[in-house]
Amino acid sequence: MTRRLVTELCGLELANPTMLAAGILGYTESSMKSIIEAGAGAVVTKSLGLEPRNGYPNPTVVQVDCGLLNAMGLPNPGINYFSEELKELKNTGVPIIVSIYGFSSKEFAKVAETAVSLGADALELNVSCPHVEKGGAEIGCDASLLAEVVGEVKKRVDRPVFVKLTPNVADIGAMAGAAVEAGADAITAINTVKAMAIEVETARPLLANKFGGLSGPAIKPIAVRAVYDVYRTVDVPVIGCGGITSWQDVVEFMLAGASAVQIGTAIAYKGLDIFKSVTRGINTYLKKKGYKNIKEIVGLAHKF
Ligand SMILES: Cc1cc2nc3c(=O)[nH]c(=O)nc-3n(C[C@H](O)[C@H](O)[C@H](O)COP(=O)(O)O)c2cc1C
Repeated sequence: MTRRLVTELCGLELANPTMLAAGILGYTESSMKSIIEAGAGAVVTKSLGLEPRNGYPNPTVVQVDCGLLNAMGLPNPGINYFSEELKELKNTGVPIIVSIYGFSSKEFAKVAETAVSLGADALELNVSCPHVEKGGAEIGCDASLLAEVVGEVKKRVDRPVFVKLTPNVADIGAMAGAAVEAGADAITAINTVKAMAIEVETARPLLANKFGGLSGPAIKPIAVRAVYDVYRTVDVPVIGCGGITSWQDVVEFMLAGASAVQIGTAIAYKGLDIFKSVTRGINTYLKKKGYKNIKEIVGLAHKF
C-alpha cells in the first residue's frame, strides 16, 4: 500500500480511492472478498431492502453500443439474510458500505438500523434506481422526500450516510444540497441514466421492464458533470461513479471534485484487475506530477 493513495472518507480509511459500485458482484461474501483481494479500497453491497425481492423477469441486462442497460428491479435476499455475509467480511480491514433502499422514510430507517447492527461501516442510500417505482429515483427527484428519508436515517444510525443521487433531474446540485442539509455525510454521483433500447426486427423493447438504467463509458461525461456540480454546491465529500474504465477516468473524476470513486460496469468488460491497474496508474500520475497525497488533486478543475 502506498501512503500517497490512502483516502480518508467520512472517518473511514481506504487504502486507495477505488470502491466497488453497488449491484455489481456485491451479492455474496465470496464475491466481495474477491473484490477486496483484487485491490478495491472499499466495497459497496448490492442494494438491500427490508424484505427479500425477486426483481424483474429476464431480460434484465442487455449490452448496448457503449455500455450496459439494466432493469434488475432490485433483486435481493433482504437485509436480515445478509447478516452472515457481513459477519464474514468484518475482519478484512476494508470498509464495507451497505447500500439500502426502502419504500418510505420509516422503512429506510429500519433497514439502516439493521445494517448498522450487522456491522456496516457506512450506509449508501439508493434513492436513485431509475426502474423501481416509489423506492428509487422518485425519492431522489423530490427534494423534500429526499430530505425526509435522509433525516429519518440519520436520526437512527451513528455511521456515515452516503446518498447516491440520480442524474435524471434538472439540478443535481439542488438535490445534493437537500440531502446534505438533512444530514448526508457524503454524496455519491451518479446512479444509471434512464434509458431504453428496442429490437428493430420485432419492435419489442429489449428489457422486460422496457425502461432501464444505462451504465458504462456512455455516461461518463454526464457523471463528471454531476460530480463537478455537486462539488461546487455542497461541502461534504463526493464519490464519483459512472463509466470509469481507466486511471485517467479516475483522475478526471477527482479533478472534478470526487474524493473517491466507484467502479461497476468496467468489471464486466475488464475483469477484477481493473482495481490494481487503476491504482497503479494514479500512483504513477501523482508521482510524476509531484503530488504527495491524492487529496491534492481533488477539485483542481474548479480553478479554471
Ligand atoms: C447490473 C447492475 C446492477 C446495479 N445495481 C445497483 C444497485 O443495486 N444499487 C445501486 O445503487 N446501483 C446499482 N447499479 C448502478 C451502479 O452502482 C452504478 O451507479 C452505475 O452502473 C454507473 O457506474 P458504472 O458505469 O461504473 O457501472 C447497478 C448497475 C448495474 C450495471
